[in-house]
Amino acid sequence: MGDSFFVKLWPRLVRNEPPLVSELRRRNLAGLSGRVLEVGAGTGTNFPLYPADVTDVVALEPAAELRALAVRAADGDPRIEVRPERLDEYVPTSPFDAVVFSLVLCSLPDPEGAVRQVRELLVPDGELRFLEHVAARGGILEGVQKAADATVWPRVFGNCHAHRDAVGLISGAGLAVTTVEDRMLAPAWVPFPTSPLVLGRASAR
Ligand SMILES: C[S@@+](CC[C@H](N)C(=O)[O-])C[C@H]1O[C@@H](n2cnc3c(N)ncnc32)[C@H](O)[C@@H]1O
Repeated sequence: MGDSFFVKLWPRLVRNEPPLVSELRRRNLAGLSGRVLEVGAGTGTNFPLYPADVTDVVALEPAAELRALAVRAADGDPRIEVRPERLDEYVPTSPFDAVVFSLVLCSLPDPEGAVRQVRELLVPDGELRFLEHVAARGGILEGVQKAADATVWPRVFGNCHAHRDAVGLISGAGLAVTTVEDRMLAPAWVPFPTSPLVLGRASAR
């Protein structure tokens, strides 16, 4: 079931996403310039939010159904090239000023390797921008996340893992995390697995 269900579900989810997520998407891309790699672009929800100073966006999206929607979303913006490779397959022609993770690190099969690869893809003073949901530390939510990851959650949501330490993975790969903002999607008393979000930046320097 997994991926075929997810590719039908995801476009509906992003069409109806909470205003907080839309706001964080916009802020994740604010101030970017030059050449940008977006990993796992989904339906291209971020595309209209790229600032004018961004000259090129290479958007990787391996899922064919989502990629077709991303190609449509990129229509009319010559800066955006949608490509079918997974991150681990992608061989760039030149390095990037920034790499964008947007609700994607949770789904990558080798997250440690992915962040190491991102570091290699960036120019020396390049930046990783990330908007991710993250592992809760303690409380009921941590247990709910672990139970979700061990059962249905990755199968239903395209290999998404709720209890993944995005910030630890990024700093563990040698990127210097410069800003992190913690937000909650659901009220604190609702143990929704992907409620804790981080918006952050990390430098390759
Ligand atoms: C939860 S969706 C997020 C989509 C988009 N970034 C957004 O913010 O709406 C995760 C995306 O990552 C893609 N993905 C999964 N594994 C990938 C990989 N190894 N390389 C690149 N993209 C991948 C999936 O196909 C999916 O579109």
